[in-house]
Amino acid sequence: MDMDLENRLVSGDYLPEDDGDNPLRPRTLQEYIGQEKVKENLSVFIDAAKIRREPLDHVLLYGPPGLGKTTLAAIIANELGVGFRITSGPALERPGDLAALLTNMEEGDVLFIDEIHRLPRTVEEILYPAMEDFAIDIINGKGQGAASIHLPLQRFTLIGATTRAGQLSAPLRDRFGVILRLEMYTPAELARIVGRSARILDVNCEEEGALEIATRSRGTPRIANRMLKRVRDFAQMLNDGVIDRAAAQQALDRMEVDALGLDMVDRRLLQAMIQHYNGGPVGLDTLAAVIGEESVTIEDVYEPYLMQLGFINRTPRGRVVLPAAYKHLGLEPNGQTSFE
Ligand code: ADE
Repeated sequence: MDMDLENRLVSGDYLPEDDGDNPLRPRTLQEYIGQEKVKENLSVFIDAAKIRREPLDHVLLYGPPGLGKTTLAAIIANELGVGFRITSGPALERPGDLAALLTNMEEGDVLFIDEIHRLPRTVEEILYPAMEDFAIDIINGKGQGAASIHLPLQRFTLIGATTRAGQLSAPLRDRFGVILRLEMYTPAELARIVGRSARILDVNCEEEGALEIATRSRGTPRIANRMLKRVRDFAQMLNDGVIDRAAAQQALDRMEVDALGLDMVDRRLLQAMIQHYNGGPVGLDTLAAVIGEESVTIEDVYEPYLMQLGFINRTPRGRVVLPAAYKHLGLEPNGQTSFE
């Protein structure tokens, strides 16, 4: 990623400021706003497991970045009243890395593996018996002296998170008893999240200010909370610290986030498709080359929101720009062949 993209206000990726002991993170299902279906189902599964005094079945959470998968995993552990360990697919380089974690877990603990689609194959293979039989077999040593050691584990709950369930191997996906898809948040839900965060941060944010931030944060709480902090800076310098609609609008305009939350990169993507490819269809790889981004980043970060807005569509022949996007950019679709 180039610098421009790394620093995007509207990036759904983690930034250091989002993390750590974040006071904005809800700790219970009750505090967690939105994802109503997911919450209702989860609370049944959690309560049932607690009554049976068994570990919760393994859970797979999937959906675009920034929707609260890590937060939800921590809440599940908290609601179960068990320990919570956190790691990620790329961090587990060798089977021994995973074995070290698993053998240190206590009965019922939750192990969270973020970006589980990026687990190395060799690590994934020891995860299967761990998930299924709560045991691992590791090979110790090399050549003639090598010995396989069978290690029983405490029963635990694995929570995996991925932006793309389709990239998981079938054997791994099949070992999750609960598969939950997180959806983008509505502006009303995001406005409630912004309101809650403003109270925690002791910021004076009016309802209309919260809604303005909500509509520009592309369905993503992580972005909404980040915007709130930046808008607060502007409001403090320009508006006695009060975030009303005008202050939010002014601050976000100055950061080049438009009324629907599109930033320079989104606009560049749409404009490239319109100007160079007559609105499409354009292949994903071509598009990636044109705007200098990786294909997966386009798929995971830019497209979900542009599709949610009805600005682009995926077709078998490539991506196409839809009329709503032309309208938003103040452009005329030229010719009837530019979209399907
Ligand atoms: N902060 C981030 N995500 C949240 C959510 N879903 N509910 C409440 N606060 C949040």
